[in-house]
Amino acid sequence: MRLKDKVAIITGAANGLGLAAARTFAREGAKVALTDFNVEQGRHRANELRDEGYEVTFFQVNVADRASVDKLVEDVAKIYGGVDILVNNAGITRDAMLKKLSVEDFQRVLDVNLTGVFHCTQAALPYMLEKGWGRIISTSSVSGVYGNVGQTNYAAAKAAVVGMTKTWAKELGRKGINVNAVAPGFIETAMVEKVPENILDGIRKTIPLGRLGKPEDIANAYLFLASEESNYVNGTVLHVDGGIMM
Ligand SMILES: NC(=O)c1ccc[n+]([C@@H]2O[C@H](COP(=O)([O-])OP(=O)(O)OC[C@H]3O[C@@H](n4cnc5c(N)ncnc54)[C@H](O)[C@@H]3O)[C@@H](O)[C@H]2O)c1
Repeated sequence: MRLKDKVAIITGAANGLGLAAARTFAREGAKVALTDFNVEQGRHRANELRDEGYEVTFFQVNVADRASVDKLVEDVAKIYGGVDILVNNAGITRDAMLKKLSVEDFQRVLDVNLTGVFHCTQAALPYMLEKGWGRIISTSSVSGVYGNVGQTNYAAAKAAVVGMTKTWAKELGRKGINVNAVAPGFIETAMVEKVPENILDGIRKTIPLGRLGKPEDIANAYLFLASEESNYVNGTVLHVDGGIMM
């Protein structure tokens, strides 16, 4: 088991990539805090995973709200005795072309996808510093690295995640904490279901592997970066996109 007895907080884990990560981490022996804004789905998913025999607990959080994040981290540390791994996976889209993008939608995406990553990382950090060991993994996106039409807000936040990741990798490396990001391409989740089929067809044609990604493809990348196998990986952005951008 690659994460035996490690305590992992995964945000946005009621669906998609976070849910796949929760299952993968639990299978590898982690005690998983499955966290999400959506209480109903989160509880349901945690129950399903517990029924499969895994050590998983649901915690509600709004990553955009600092008080909510502080409470989450305190509760997890109280129950499990610390926090070893943080996966900053929660994210939203509010797509619009620049001409039509509202200030509210611009700000909301930054609040969740950027400030949320800052809140969770700052709140979890003291527990990692205390142990002298930690793993921080944040979810960027191909959009953040290369830009994407209709995603001013999303691309800005995901690019900022890369900047924060590299900064924290420099600040925390000597403290035993590795900080990395994953940049998924187009992965089959609810987020991508919103994209019209004809556009998805066009996207498929540009992916050298000839298919969209599966949530497990990203969960495996998170697992690598959370495990001891990535001990010498720090400040990197792992592209998991089928080679869509080279
Ligand atoms: N699916 C893709 O193709 C793709 C590509 C690149 C990057 N990503 C990124 O991967 C991450 C996961 O995406 P996904 O496709 O699994 O999305 P998803 O929409 O399937 O799941 C996201 C989860 O985050 C939760 N969430 C939303 N706002 C929250 C908040 N304020 N606090 C806590 N939880 C909140 C939602 O309830 C949901 O369960 C996101 O950061 C996304 O931007 C996804």
